[in-house]
Amino acid sequence: MKYPVIAIDGPAAAGKGTLARQLADVLELPYLDTGLLYRAVARRVLDQGGDPAHDGPEQARQLVPEDMRRTDLREPEVDKAASAVARHPEVREALLERQRHFGRARGAVVDGRDIGTVVFPDASAKFFITASPEVRAQRRYVQRYGHPCADPAELAEEVAAINARDQQDSARETAPLRPAEDAVQIVTDDLDAAGVLERVCLILQEKG
Ligand code: C5P
Repeated sequence: MKYPVIAIDGPAAAGKGTLARQLADVLELPYLDTGLLYRAVARRVLDQGGDPAHDGPEQARQLVPEDMRRTDLREPEVDKAASAVARHPEVREALLERQRHFGRARGAVVDGRDIGTVVFPDASAKFFITASPEVRAQRRYVQRYGHPCADPAELAEEVAAINARDQQDSARETAPLRPAEDAVQIVTDDLDAAGVLERVCLILQEKG
């Protein structure tokens, strides 16, 4: 029997993770956050005093499940370093089989940047979730500090960091961030998490 894999891609802080986690609950499928793999590689590089622009392949091969459970994977320095190590083709190669193995075992909802294009090109359904940089920056801020950002200069810094990461993820040669041709695109600027989930569930129902 072939288990379903649902691919959810999109730029930073677009709401992919929230959607993927809730959808996995609804569909009773395992959830895989592939960004955590890149974050864990980056964390190892930083801990070892390495340079994310050059290091990463060795750390990717050494990854153990505990690395993904660390609580310090969401720090801003890891955001940047994860995007840097994710540019190395050898890092991506080392993480590819792990992701496929996880998805094939019992099916999964998988979120990332290249799930519909590279990791699971034959996924049962593909979604590409986006929102404007300003909305994503504000969401990221709320995630981090628990309240919206009231300082325009601080918010502008967050927007710049998000834009820089998207630019790096979209411009890389290997598995760049882009929607798969058969992905359904959803813009979440005017939708809350429940609204996004509802839309995705409707689309899945229609697909049958
Ligand atoms: O999704 P998240 O923000 O946790 O991902 C961190 C970084 O990992 C991204 O900026 C991206 O560079 C990289 N990534 C990737 N491919 C994926 C998931 C994440 O290149 N499938």
